Amino acid sequence: MSTSARLRDTLTDRLTEDGTLTEPEWSSAARSVPRELFTGSYFAPVAGSAPTRYRPVREGTPGWLEGIYSDRTLITQLDGRTRPDDVAEGAVSGSPSSSSTLPSLVLRMWQQLGAEAGHRVLEIGTGTGYSTALGAHRLGSARLTSIEYDPVVGAAAAAALKVAGFAPRLILGDGLRGDPDGDPYDRLIATCAVRYVPLPWLHQVRPGGKILVTLSGWGYANALALLEVTGPGEATGRFLPGCTSFMIARPHDRPPRPTLALLPGDERPSRIDPGKLDDWTGAWVAQLAAPAAERLGAGAEQILWDVSTGSQARTAPGPDGGWTVVQRGPVRLWDRVERAVQCWQSADEPGQEAFGLTVSAAGQRVWLGRADGPGWDLPI
Ligand SMILES: C[S@@+](CC[C@H](N)C(=O)[O-])C[C@H]1O[C@@H](n2cnc3c(N)ncnc32)[C@H](O)[C@@H]1O
Repeated sequence: MSTSARLRDTLTDRLTEDGTLTEPEWSSAARSVPRELFTGSYFAPVAGSAPTRYRPVREGTPGWLEGIYSDRTLITQLDGRTRPDDVAEGAVSGSPSSSSTLPSLVLRMWQQLGAEAGHRVLEIGTGTGYSTALGAHRLGSARLTSIEYDPVVGAAAAAALKVAGFAPRLILGDGLRGDPDGDPYDRLIATCAVRYVPLPWLHQVRPGGKILVTLSGWGYANALALLEVTGPGEATGRFLPGCTSFMIARPHDRPPRPTLALLPGDERPSRIDPGKLDDWTGAWVAQLAAPAAERLGAGAEQILWDVSTGSQARTAPGPDGGWTVVQRGPVRLWDRVERAVQCWQSADEPGQEAFGLTVSAAGQRVWLGRADGPGWDLPI
């Protein structure tokens, strides 16, 4: 048995024992698809670096293969251009723009999607092609279409899929437009995150079909939603438990921000502990309330900055053990965040599975508890 096959078996056994892999068909895919064909060289974060720096781990070097089967996300491109083999020596900084998502998450999502033999599936974000290969192994190449935005990434994935013996339909382009030329799909899975559900998807997945997508935003918070399409242009569903995050779809990315400059504003006591925004769901709730704000800072010292309106909010420890907030600009970011966090707190701070999303031509609304409960409109 090759080292790769042995490492694949070990990882598959581990994911079965910890309850991630529950369906034998997906276990078989995990045992069969060599992830190294798709990742090639990858970037590893340099421990303790801030901002994070990445060193290339070159194909075939000691530890390369073990890293591939260590169930980690492997970054394969920075800033939409730099690939590991482009870095001659040392480490580089940059923003991850393509990766091979950790196998446990990919496999968990394929299972959550409920993709079965016979289903036609559309994947958004081919990346390295590893998740595509798993899907093609389970469903058959003829049932799977995958869309990648970045031509260099897409070409590498196409070559790797061919070597691995899979031939799904591959499209280079903006996956937010979906596949207008395809027949209706039974399932859609996105491995990049979106700020709102693109309307084309809701016409390309048949009623009764499912969409699995991570909702993210400019505040860096994420939540994975499983939606059922209820009619052309309509869907509803709930967010799933756990902490799933993906890089945001390139057309939905936040606008560039100038160097941080904190400006004066109106000060008052904060009615909530700003540290609540460090909580996974607390951050998500804040992002729902202020979707155009980037979140910087941490703990008692949070900074929200909406570059489109110039609105800012920043918190600090107050004199009596409480907190203060300074706000400026036309959007009172902290007022909104405070109201949303208080609403979440009055429901006992539930996890994301307490939230749902309803999408229609009228808008996209995330709600807490029930569809007619308190809610927030997504920025369409
Ligand atoms: C996390 S990676 C995908 C991981 C991949 N499924 C795998 O297993 O290797 C996200 C990918 O989405 C791609 N992407 C970003 N925006 C996109 C868009 N609008 N349409 C299609 N792909 C997009 C990125 O270029 C990146 O390759």
